[in-house]
Amino acid sequence: MYRVVKRRQLAAEPSIVLLEVEAPNVAKKVQPGQFIIVRKDEKAERIPLTVMDFDREKGTITIVIQNVGYSSGLINEMDEGDFFQDFVGPLGVPSEIENYGTVVCIGGGLGVAPVYPIARALKEAGNKVISVIGSKTADLLILEEEMRAISDEVVVTTDDGSMGVKGFVTNGLAHILDQGIKVDACWAIGPVIMMKSVANFTRPLGIKTIVSMNPIMVDGTGMCGACRISVGDQTKFACVDGPEFDGHLVDFDLAMKRLAFYKDEEERAKISKTC
Ligand code: FES
Repeated sequence: MYRVVKRRQLAAEPSIVLLEVEAPNVAKKVQPGQFIIVRKDEKAERIPLTVMDFDREKGTITIVIQNVGYSSGLINEMDEGDFFQDFVGPLGVPSEIENYGTVVCIGGGLGVAPVYPIARALKEAGNKVISVIGSKTADLLILEEEMRAISDEVVVTTDDGSMGVKGFVTNGLAHILDQGIKVDACWAIGPVIMMKSVANFTRPLGIKTIVSMNPIMVDGTGMCGACRISVGDQTKFACVDGPEFDGHLVDFDLAMKRLAFYKDEEERAKISKTC
């Protein structure tokens, strides 16, 4: 049913892989910013994953997954010809794509994957797209070639300075603003702490900033309550109302507390399943 037709290793340690999967019904309808829920087999947990790419003609969806736990590890090791038991979607609210003017698309770590189709759609909508892609080290930087193909300009940042601008993605954003470029909107996708930093950076500058709260989702179905967040004075569920929200209104500290709680749970699950 949901056969892996292509596997590409994007980084070795930790292992990050790209999988292109046959899922024609999802590929028919999916829009940038939406996610799917996958399950390798009946013993594995369901994992919500933001879509990296889609091909409506071939009927395929591309996802990128890092080995961070038991279930993601199983998927990470899948090979061409292997099958997913479940591949459900598209889910969530699509990105609001329109012509804003100049948009900075920021992807940190694994966040480069979900920001890719958004940047491409923004480019197709007539925006000038400047992308900032960052990672800890040069060998963990993913999808640089793909981002260069759909962006007007790409700024690379690495924490250790092994490639591009030394520092975090906010240093990349500062690098763009230092050139006197007027930025009309910004998408920032990556670790929650990174999205918080970008939102704090752009808030005083009045730059509209969209973040994706996919990292705090657990089951992605609106049932577990793990992705409950505070946005302004409202309570929202990332998997139902998002995953994208106005970054200037998200309570990131609350989101990080929830994430820490579920990380402990995942560790426990990993230990019990390998014993
Ligand atoms: Fe469980 Fe949203 S991920 S309610």
